[in-house]
Amino acid sequence: MTGASEVVTAPAPLLRLAGVTKSFPDGTDAVAGVDLVVRPGELVAVVGPSGCGKSTLLHLVAGLARPSGGTLTRATDRVGYVFQDPTLLPWRTVRRNVELFGELADLPRAERRRRAERVLAAVGLTEFADHRPGQLSGGMRMRAALARALLVEPELFLFDEPFAALDEITRQDMGEELLRLFDQRGFGAIFVTHSVAEAVYLASRVLVMSARPGRVLREIEVAVAHPRRPEFRRTDTFATLVGEVSEALAVGSAR
Ligand SMILES: Nc1ncnc2c1ncn2[C@@H]1O[C@H](COP(=O)(O)OP(=O)(O)OP(=O)(O)O)[C@@H](O)[C@H]1O
Ligand SMILES: [Mg+2]
Repeated sequence: MTGASEVVTAPAPLLRLAGVTKSFPDGTDAVAGVDLVVRPGELVAVVGPSGCGKSTLLHLVAGLARPSGGTLTRATDRVGYVFQDPTLLPWRTVRRNVELFGELADLPRAERRRRAERVLAAVGLTEFADHRPGQLSGGMRMRAALARALLVEPELFLFDEPFAALDEITRQDMGEELLRLFDQRGFGAIFVTHSVAEAVYLASRVLVMSARPGRVLREIEVAVAHPRRPEFRRTDTFATLVGEVSEALAVGSAR
């Protein structure tokens, strides 16, 4: 093919932040002047020192808090949010935990059930649908939290250090699971993590934030197409990118 038919325009952004700041009533400046665009099919990892405003940024994007300055435009209401803690209701079965957001969104019961079966299968928890959270391992609880967020069929997915409490092998397995869902569903995502290697492995771009008030110090593109393969972790490109992100992080933390 030749000519204009080859021109591919980028899809319209799901999210656009311009100069977004957040100051709390007690005078704490959490984030300052953040610019960020997320399009469908982009997974943006965010790394930065503890307390630099990463969770605050996700709260702003989800509409749980309002910016003090700048503009935030979100093109969809279908937002999935996976918190650092799986926060499952202990008295409900896995299936009924997964259905929860559907109940809150007033989805009819049959539709909730249908979606729950589908997302439970997607995260490999079909066999555990009738268990209670207390009967699951940490990794399985995190899968249940992921399934619960998937139920709303998110166009924009927010992850706040979702795998931080998991051992390294489970964490990498969960990363693969997440990438499979990302490749299938093509949502846009913001993924907060303290692991530079996880950020580089998963993301289309890595945003490095400074110490509080969090500013975007650098945006480092990971120019390796999805789907990613585990071999990517053992390439020179991977090592170079991990070095680059780590260096930017060290500079930001020192401020
Ligand atoms: N409701 C609030 N009122 C006042 N200050 C707050 C509030 N929420 C967060 N902060 C402060 O804002 C700053 C950023 O907090 P935030 O939780 O966004 O950081 P973070 O980057 O997610 O940190 P971590 O990596 O430890 O999770 C911190 O100094 C925190 O104490
Ligand atoms: Mg946080």
